[in-house]
Amino acid sequence: MEIKKVVIIGSGTMGSGIAAHLCNANIPVTLLDLKTEISEKARDRIHKSKPPLLLDKTKINNIKVGNISDNFSEVEEADWVVEAVVERIDVKHDIYKKIFNVRKKGAIVSSNTSSIPIKVLSQHLSEEEKKDFCITHFFNPVRYMGLLEIVKNENNDLDKINSLKKFCEIELGKGAIICNDTPGFLGNRIGVFAMQVAMTEAFKMKLSVEEADAIFGRPMGIPKTGVFGLYDLIGIDLMADVLKSFIKELPEKDPFQLVAKEIPLVKKLIETGYTGRKGKGGFYRVNKTDGKKIMEALNLQTGEYSSSKKINIKTEKVDLKSLINRNDKYGKYAWSVISKIIKYASSLVPGITKEFNDIDEAMRLGFNWSKGPFEMLEEIGVNNFFSKIDEYKNNNFLENLAQSKNEEFYGERQKYTKIETLGKAKKTAMSVDGNNSAKIYRFNDYNIVEFTTKANALDYDSMDALKKATDKPLIIINESMQFSAGVNLTYTMEFADKRDFKSIEKFIKYFQETCKHLKYSKYPVISAPSGLTLGGGFEVMVQSNFVASHTNIVVGLVETIVGLIPAGGGCKEMLARWLDTDEAKKDPNFAPLKVFDIIGYGKTATSPVEAEPMKYLMPEDKKIMNRNSLFEVSKKILEDNRDFIAPEELKFNLPGKSVLEDMNKILDNLYNEAIILDHGVIVAKELANVLSGGDTTIDKTLSEDDLFKLELDAFMKLIETKETQDRIKHTLATGKPLVN
Ligand code: NAI
Repeated sequence: MEIKKVVIIGSGTMGSGIAAHLCNANIPVTLLDLKTEISEKARDRIHKSKPPLLLDKTKINNIKVGNISDNFSEVEEADWVVEAVVERIDVKHDIYKKIFNVRKKGAIVSSNTSSIPIKVLSQHLSEEEKKDFCITHFFNPVRYMGLLEIVKNENNDLDKINSLKKFCEIELGKGAIICNDTPGFLGNRIGVFAMQVAMTEAFKMKLSVEEADAIFGRPMGIPKTGVFGLYDLIGIDLMADVLKSFIKELPEKDPFQLVAKEIPLVKKLIETGYTGRKGKGGFYRVNKTDGKKIMEALNLQTGEYSSSKKINIKTEKVDLKSLINRNDKYGKYAWSVISKIIKYASSLVPGITKEFNDIDEAMRLGFNWSKGPFEMLEEIGVNNFFSKIDEYKNNNFLENLAQSKNEEFYGERQKYTKIETLGKAKKTAMSVDGNNSAKIYRFNDYNIVEFTTKANALDYDSMDALKKATDKPLIIINESMQFSAGVNLTYTMEFADKRDFKSIEKFIKYFQETCKHLKYSKYPVISAPSGLTLGGGFEVMVQSNFVASHTNIVVGLVETIVGLIPAGGGCKEMLARWLDTDEAKKDPNFAPLKVFDIIGYGKTATSPVEAEPMKYLMPEDKKIMNRNSLFEVSKKILEDNRDFIAPEELKFNLPGKSVLEDMNKILDNLYNEAIILDHGVIVAKELANVLSGGDTTIDKTLSEDDLFKLELDAFMKLIETKETQDRIKHTLATGKPLVN
């Protein structure tokens, strides 16, 4: 079965997201709704979406729109028809009747339902029709969420389901997991249960919303929105509907029922329009007093708002063992929540899926957890878990485990896919070295470095690990959300606060030395980025010999925004790329001016399609839809480059002063128009000096080390200024840039 054309019915949040993603995969797609205006609006929303649903905005018109009365004949040509209309069974049944009347013989018809069982959806279909009908449950936002749950019915043609799974995996890049026909399937069944446990336990244990979010967040390997933040994001009213559906669908004795009960305070929030971010606020709200915006949090006991407090639980790393053993309310809350999630998830095996690792994967791909419940159990340790747990009657999984006490119970990971993932490789790889910031694994005859800090921010230890690992061919890759958000600014500021600039200089020099080593060591180095690949993260990538990039990448040199300039080879490499163009051969000022524009504004790209015109990525870099495939592709690159010879060092001929005049003119204009302020000019002048080549002329040849030196000098000058330090502190505190 080949999928050459798709029709989507229903152009709301999900229909439009699925359409955009098919467009990303270059599959012709038509979006139909009750009226053409609705699907047209949906297309506008796709175009304006942030973060963007499209890899390439110029392709927006590849999504055709129409309505179900005049344009239904589109369905006749489709190989796959996706139903994404409102969650109402009568509406869905009507649509299926219309679709099956006209669809091409053998075309797949699927529903995006999040809660209606397939046996109910398909109850009016003939045996023949059922063969081609299934549920394809995508997650929102479709481009960014990796999970796709596929639910079969008993009549399905298995070959067809498998080829749909393969299409979704390879062309759409999804982690496609086939699951049983049970309420909420895998992701929502466990994910919503987990949210409810985190919420009800916070009420019971009298934790504040900030405290609960501080625990049920990063320390547990869960996104920092936590539970109450996530509730506000999803919509408190929508969550109430989801719970009602679970209450209706699940048996009375299901432990879900206990945590799904209506909470009076939540009911009141919905009734008064406090439905979350889309409403007047929710568990958090932004309140304006005296023209100042203040973040407030709801007191779960009194129902009053007061200014939100930052909770410091003094752990940067995910370390579940220490977290649950803490002898304070945070430790008790963490254990109570985690143990209940593990108990519930394990009680559902094999009912919802026979492979428990599918549940973990659903939580990673559908909720962005770094570990699912069974991986949490593995990390806590089986004996440790059973020494703490109270009871687990009628839970076969735990009863068996309690008997075997097998610490190695987990076995293989990610069994749902045939792709050789990093997750699978790590299970069999040997852990050879590591430090606080990175781990080195040996797999076959090469090394893997995985950064392990928050947002994979880079410091001295990260560089140390990279450098050590170049004793073999090397793949730099990781399983967390970001490849690397750049140099660790907190770490840099700690030295700056003590005026210990020598240590900063030592670090930057080591950064440069390591990157140079990556590029010129005798073995090939491959970077496989996904997510944020910014600043120092980009510099590591760009100085690797090969790149295998996920299509969901945010890449760029953003140093100027915090009052610095790229000093780990970013300026150097971008110059080299732009010097190697026809325009640069004719005009010596072309490359420095281009790079000045890109780095000066701290431009970023949100996909490879946007990255290539800026030369953050190159045509020869591999771009991959499925994140799971990054490791396999990287491995293949290594295999294809067994006879790798390190490249020759670059040489630069730069115009020096003559281009500086042009750059200064640009800066004067920006300053006069107040687009940049005083410190902006200082930062840009330092950047201009580096990109012009400093004190040079076009006939003088500069080496890479000369450029490193220019970068380092500019960086050190800037980091010593109060204004740059103010920018960094502001960004660390607020996540936003300071314009000074
Ligand atoms: P939505 O309310 O945003 O969009 C539904 C769209 O269907 C609207 O544009 C509406 O005009 C259209 N529609 C209604 N009746 C129709 C008909 N007879 N013919 C054609 N179009 C019709 O809903 P949303 O959120 O996109 O949900 C769609 C489906 O996806 C539902 O089954 C929902 O349960 C499921 N889902 C929703 C998720 C979410 O996060 N919103 C996540 C995963 C699944």
